[in-house]
Amino acid sequence: MMMADSVPYNARIREFKLSDYDRVISLWLECNLIRSKESLSKEMLRIETERNPRLFLVCEDSSGRIIGTVVGAWDGWRGWIYKLAVTKDYRRGGLASRLVDEVTNRLRQSGAQIIRGYVKKENDASLSLFAKLGFTRMDDVVLVTLGRQ
Ligand SMILES: CC(C)(COP(=O)(O)OP(=O)(O)OC[C@H]1O[C@@H](n2cnc3c(N)ncnc32)[C@H](O)[C@@H]1OP(=O)(O)O)[C@@H](O)C(=O)NCCC(=O)NCCS
Repeated sequence: MMMADSVPYNARIREFKLSDYDRVISLWLECNLIRSKESLSKEMLRIETERNPRLFLVCEDSSGRIIGTVVGAWDGWRGWIYKLAVTKDYRRGGLASRLVDEVTNRLRQSGAQIIRGYVKKENDASLSLFAKLGFTRMDDVVLVTLGRQ
């Protein structure tokens, strides 16, 4: 896999802390990754962090603003990438690539040999990004779900 450039804008990637909750939710709302704050409670994020403690990453700029996130999940079978987000004014600087690179390395360290992510068909930015990082598109797979779409 291609190595992404270093983190831009004097920002740093670190693991999520519960005190980041409000800022992370704001970013996910801005990026349309969740519908409302109520759909993802602090308790849910606490449980997720306990389950995969090293895989929930945020990027913080020098003023303390959360400008990017990625959440990895290792289920013992495959590694998954969720909640890849970069705030609008920091896009196209290589930050999402760096986040995917970091979470991918961590998932591999956990034992994941296959790493996958869900991308909406019309999300050209995300599809281009994953393609650039060496991910291949699986056109023979359809997502099925129980519960809310
Ligand atoms: C998708 C997203 C995370 C990309 O973040 P980013 O930091 O701008 O991505 P990068 O700078 O690392 O981009 C790497 C490559 O991806 C591709 N890419 C990124 N954004 C693109 C866009 N808007 N259009 C076309 N290609 C794009 C390009 O190939 C880019 O390389 P280049 O800038 O050298 O041309 C960001 O647009 C975002 O948060 N979108 C809303 C949330 C979302 O859709 N998340 C993904 C859910 S699956």
